[in-house]
Order: sequence, then C-alpha cells, then structure tokens
Amino acid sequence: MKIDKSTALVTGANRGIGRAFVEALLEQGAARVYAAARQPDSLTELVQTAPDRVVPLKLDVTDHESVALAAETASDVDLLINNAGVLAFTDLLTGDLDLIRRDMETNYYGMLNMARAFAPVLATNTPAAMVNVLSVVSLASMPMIGGYSASKAAAFSLTQGIRKRLSEQGIAVHAVFPGPIDTDMARDLDMPKASPRDVAVASLEAVESGTQDTFPDPMAREVHSTWSSDPKALEMQFAAM
Ligand SMILES: NC(=O)c1ccc[n+]([C@@H]2O[C@H](COP(=O)([O-])OP(=O)(O)OC[C@H]3O[C@@H](n4cnc5c(N)ncnc54)[C@H](OP(=O)(O)O)[C@@H]3O)[C@@H](O)[C@H]2O)c1
Repeated sequence: MKIDKSTALVTGANRGIGRAFVEALLEQGAARVYAAARQPDSLTELVQTAPDRVVPLKLDVTDHESVALAAETASDVDLLINNAGVLAFTDLLTGDLDLIRRDMETNYYGMLNMARAFAPVLATNTPAAMVNVLSVVSLASMPMIGGYSASKAAAFSLTQGIRKRLSEQGIAVHAVFPGPIDTDMARDLDMPKASPRDVAVASLEAVESGTQDTFPDPMAREVHSTWSSDPKALEMQFAAM
C-alpha cells in the first residue's frame, strides 16, 4: 500500500521511534495520523507541527477499554503501527517478576490487544497494513534483558500467527526487527545506535514494497545474517553479552 493519503495510527507516538514514525508519515503524505499516547499532553508539540493532520489520541495498549475506544474513534485507519513498548533490564532467574510481567503485558498482550481491536477496522479500509515493531532479541534471547527478549519473541510469534488470516482480508502484516536505536529506551546501552528515523523510514519502505520482515539498521542486518545461517551462534553471541 501507499503511504501517500493513508490514515495511520502510531502507538507510543510521543517520543522515540513512535515520534519518528509520525514525522516520516507526515513527510510522505499521510492524510491523517492518529498520534496515540498514554499522556496526550506529551503530544502537544508534535500536534503543532501539522495540526490539520495529526490527531492526538489517549491510548494505553494494556487497557482494554482504552484500546476499544481508540478503535471506535480511529475507524478510518488503514495503517496501524504497533510501536509502543517497554524494556526492563531484568535477569529471568533473579529479576523483579513484576517488571518481567510488565514487559510481557505491554510488548506482547498490548500488541495483541491492538491487533484484535483493529483487525476489523483495517478490514473495512483495505488495502491496509499493520507494522509490528519487534527487535533483534525476538530472534534470540539476550539474558541481560531476558524478560524483554521473551516478550519480543512472543510478539514475533503473534505477528506470524495472524499474518495469513489478515492477508486474506487485504491486510499486510509487517515485522520490523531493530537493533539498538538512539532513544530513551536504549539510553543505558553503551554501543553504536541507529537513529529512530532510520527505523521509521525503512518500515514505511517495507509497507510500500510489501516486504514482510525488515532489518532497518546495520546491527539488525548483521544479526539477521548470523541467525539465517547459524541460529545457535546468535544464541551464544547474545548470551555472552
Ligand atoms: N530503542 C531501541 O534500541 C529499540 C530496539 C529494538 C526495538 N525497539 C522497540 O521500538 C519500540 C519503540 O521504542 P523506543 O526506543 O522509541 O522507546 P521509548 O523512547 O522508551 O518510547 C516508548 C514509547 O512506548 C510508549 N508506551 C509504553 N508503554 C505503553 C502503554 N502501555 N501504552 C501505550 N504506550 C506505551 C511510551 O509512552 P510513555 O511516554 O507514556 O512512557 C513511549 O511513547 C518499542 O516497541 C521497542 O521495544 C526499540
């Protein structure tokens, strides 16, 4: 599908990669972008960049009522960007179980809540697309972020699990697997990071070209190459980090 004249909804739109998605969508001619955030106040500046096209929306992806209301309000969406996410540095064996649950609740169940609520909306606005922002740790666990890795692996499985059914309804489901990106989430990671814009632009290119799986930055492409040829080597590489 084309980005030009599309009507998109971006979760976690107030900062980081989500904000970069909104900016890239506007640059590429989206007719309307619902910028969804838990705190609509945090969207004020972004809305001011294009008040005629950016519609602020209060949305917590873990809250069923909030998700249902968003699907009712944004009934013209043909491009859903499931971007909202959280990351806790937790050890699976000794870390805070509440934080491990929060990663799963947001990154897996949050995405599932959005997919279930918006599938009927997208189906009435075809050709349509859903972009699920995953991670390179969807492919193998990085033990220092073991809970997050599990949630992103689950989100990858969810993406695969809905793809065929939705494609039969005219909805393309895209997965994006970023490496480290320069946002608040990766603030404490001391390694080279790509820009949020790179992720947004590569993801929108994938929507236009119909590419199912996208590795938007140099580290992601390296990880993909290792995983494709030797998944055990990737497991060992991440375990050593
Ligand atoms: N940065 C990286 O290195 C990296 C790498 C791979 C994948 N990713 C993925 O990319 C996506 C965006 O991450 P980011 O780097 O932009 O992180 P970020 O700067 O920390 O932003 C996360 C966004 O998600 C929102 N969010 C969190 N929980 C939410 C909930 N329950 N409901 C609605 N929104 C919620 C946050 O809203 P608040 O402002 O209200 O907290 C914020 O807008 C995530 O899915 C992340 O896992 C990031």
